[in-house]
Amino acid sequence: SYPKQVTIVEVGPRDGLQNEKTPLSTDIKLEFIDRLADAGLKVIEATAFVSPKWVPQMADHAEVMQGLKRRQGVRYPVLVPNMKGYEAARAVGVDEIAVFAAASEAFSQKNINCSIEESLQRFEPIFAAARAEGVAVRGYVSCVMGCPYQGEVPLADVARVSKALLDMGCYEISLGDTIGVGTPIKARAMIETVSRVVPIDKLAAHFHDTWGQALANLYAVLEMGVATLDSSAAGIGGCPYAKGASGNVATEDVVYLLQGMGIDCGIDLDRLAEAGRFINAQLNRQPTSKVAAALAAR
Ligand code: HMG
Ligand code: MG
Repeated sequence: SYPKQVTIVEVGPRDGLQNEKTPLSTDIKLEFIDRLADAGLKVIEATAFVSPKWVPQMADHAEVMQGLKRRQGVRYPVLVPNMKGYEAARAVGVDEIAVFAAASEAFSQKNINCSIEESLQRFEPIFAAARAEGVAVRGYVSCVMGCPYQGEVPLADVARVSKALLDMGCYEISLGDTIGVGTPIKARAMIETVSRVVPIDKLAAHFHDTWGQALANLYAVLEMGVATLDSSAAGIGGCPYAKGASGNVATEDVVYLLQGMGIDCGIDLDRLAEAGRFINAQLNRQPTSKVAAALAAR
């Protein structure tokens, strides 16, 4: 049995754009975010307050947040790696953040230049400040079904890091198949293991589509009761610190799947596809979403 209601967390403006070499202007990012809200998305991860030396595309994070036409009922979380990022985000009115850790030691080093344990320690002051200031914190765990450096990642490690983030104060744990290597059976086993220590209604699936399995994996975990799915319009994206990692599962594909299951997530598929076409045109990219391509061919 699957959930009657599903929340989509649109990560296109952050995960989608962070790896794109074509520098986009802040105005284009803002228009993209606006079009996503037009399509009915209620949670839009808007940018990342990470180091511009590490991820140049996110260097205009403050301008994006300041230029945002905030809409009633829409949340705009941002990624934050450390206290510096937290303070910069708060200075421009951010009220919801996401911290990110990995289940793989090697990936943690490459992505944030420290061990898993150090990263959790680095988050402590962020949680303390967020608690005091009423800022909601989401937690990402990367490499939940495999790591580009380490290969296999034990599910016990995924569960341990997920539980640690929950205990520190995350309201939700988003499980990242960073390099899109999972398959449905593995996805089920992963959720089964993690849900022993984190309640399933606090879990989100964040699957990249590198190996074309994301939609099948999402279906598998929907059946287990996971009701929050991360996706990116037009399937753009990839992690700069995961070589060969391609985009997130396309939001268009997820919405079409959900509609077919009778799950209304309040999203207008045509307007969503328009937002996807808009960003693809800006990036000079061909659509990777099959649903977007099918809609365009009608
Ligand atoms: P570091 O080099 O170890 O740290 O980076 P540092 O403290 O020595 O800082 C280096 C420079 O960056 C300094 O500048 C700092 O001031 C500056 P300098 O003194 O050399 O001029 N700096 C900052 N600037 C702006 N905002 C900040 C900030 N922090 C330091 N917040 C650090 C450590 C964590 C900063 C760096 O490694 C970093 O920014 N990493 C981010 C990597 C990233 O964004 N990866 C992609 C997102 S994660 C992802 O995609 C996975 C996910 O989608 C889930 C999944 O798919 O699995 C979430
Ligand atoms: Mg990701």
